[in-house]
Amino acid sequence: MKFFADTADTAEIADLAQTGLLDGVTTNPSLIKKSGRDIIEVTREICGLTHGPVSAEVVALDHAGMMKEAEILRKIADNVCIKVPLTIDGLKSCKALTSDGTMVNVTLCFSASQALLAAKAGASFISPFVGRHDDNGFDGMNLIEDIRLIYDNYGFETEILVASIRHGIHVLEAARIGADVITAPPSVIKGLFKHVLTDKGIEGFLKDWAETGQAIG
Ligand code: E4P
Repeated sequence: MKFFADTADTAEIADLAQTGLLDGVTTNPSLIKKSGRDIIEVTREICGLTHGPVSAEVVALDHAGMMKEAEILRKIADNVCIKVPLTIDGLKSCKALTSDGTMVNVTLCFSASQALLAAKAGASFISPFVGRHDDNGFDGMNLIEDIRLIYDNYGFETEILVASIRHGIHVLEAARIGADVITAPPSVIKGLFKHVLTDKGIEGFLKDWAETGQAIG
C-alpha cells in the first residue's frame, strides 16, 4: 500500500520523505490556504521533495476552465497529478486529461457509483473521503469495500486512494480491504510508528545494556 501525505506543508513533507516511506502527496485548496503560499510555487517545491504523484486541484467548475487550469498545473513538474471534483465536468476533464497521458485524481467521492464512473473515465486515482463520510453518519470503510469489489469485478486499474483519513484505524482498515493508497495528515502517518510497548521495550533494553558496560564498535 502506498502512503501519501495530505498536506502542503513542505517541512512536514521533507521530514516524511527522509523515512523513505513516502510515495506521494495530496493537496487541496484548503491545504494551500493553510500553507499561506502561492499554489504554483508550493506545488513546485513539493514536486521536488517526492518522486511520487503530487495532486494539485483545479478550482474551475466547468470543463473548459478545468482544462485551462490543468494545463498550467501540469507544467509545474512531471509528477503533478491533476485533481478534479467528481462532477460531470470533472469526469469529462478526467477523460480528456488521462487520454492525453496526464495523471488524474478524482476527488470528493462519496458513493461507489461515483467511483465506478471515475474508473470508466480513466481516473488514475479515485479519492473516497472516509472521514467526512463517517462525520455524516455513514460508514466510510463500507464505501471502500464496495469500491474494491466493483473495481476487482471489472479489472479497473484506477487506484483506490483512501482520503479524509482521521486516525490510524482508518489506515489499518484500508490495508485490510486492499486499498491501493492512503493519504493522511503527517501526524496520523507519524502516529503509525508509535507503540507504548516499543518505547517501554527500548527503555528496558537500554537500561540493561548500560549495566553491561559494553559499547558496539
Ligand atoms: C485528499 O485528497 C483530501 O483533499 C483530504 O484527504 C480531505 O481531508 P479532510 O476531510 O480532512 O479535509
